[in-house]
Amino acid sequence: MTAKAESTHTYDVLTVRVFRDAATLGTAAAEDAVRHLAAVLETHDTANVLMATGSSQRSFHQALARQDGIDWRRVVAFHLDEYVGLDASHPASFRHVLRRGVIEPLGVGAFHGIDADRRPLEAVRTAYARALSEARIDLCCLGIGENGHLAFNDPPYADFDDPEVVKPVELDAASRHQQVREGHFANLEEVPTHALTVTIPALLNATRVQCVAPEGRKAHAVARALEGPIDPSLPASILRRTPHAQLYLDHESAGGLESLRPDTRGAPSTPSAPASRRAR
Ligand code: GLP
Repeated sequence: MTAKAESTHTYDVLTVRVFRDAATLGTAAAEDAVRHLAAVLETHDTANVLMATGSSQRSFHQALARQDGIDWRRVVAFHLDEYVGLDASHPASFRHVLRRGVIEPLGVGAFHGIDADRRPLEAVRTAYARALSEARIDLCCLGIGENGHLAFNDPPYADFDDPEVVKPVELDAASRHQQVREGHFANLEEVPTHALTVTIPALLNATRVQCVAPEGRKAHAVARALEGPIDPSLPASILRRTPHAQLYLDHESAGGLESLRPDTRGAPSTPSAPASRRAR
């Protein structure tokens, strides 16, 4: 069954689709991802995907398991970011989350994890950057942090023209607090202070970019990303300059968008009718 968007909009060059709820959004993103990867596999031996983690990705990850029509053994997965010094078996480790939630249940052929608990860190960073650079990334699956980050490119350190592929970062306080609120760590002291992250140009270098951002806690960041300036202070705003990206929202995460309020958009749009919105 195809999951339908309730409405579709354009912000600069970015296509934004709004769904009824997180489950429908996850299903639509999974259908689109599998359709794209299966098309890649028609002409290539393998398809390479770069995957986000985080609580907001769960409905998407769960929906992937319900899709037919793809041989996951021919898919190679990479991920966006990892905490420095956190063991791969820690429940909050992004490698652990992906292995348990995606790689093992789907039977993904190969997984390149960022071993940011190993030393020297510089060797880990350069090896991962090399592996990513040598792969053709067919699909990048992103989320948006509550502070507007993409991967762990937190404001104000995000760099739209970053010369690196992978870099070490000190985590923004907002990012660390979010991890405690979501229950991944018992308190702030337990949250690692540093991470390795794929940089913004390397994320957007993928052939296709799907950004999945459901839930009301993302409404403020989504509104700033789509209606504020395109600026590293809100890293996800760069999606508006990314024609090969799609943003998947639900009613809650789209709830802060002034431009979608009935009183500011004129006549209400018909369900699923395209509506063009320019950022102010
Ligand atoms: C996390 C990760 C990202 C993810 C984003 C959304 O902390 N660094 O890989 O895309 O932030 O996370 P969440 O779904 O927990 O809000």
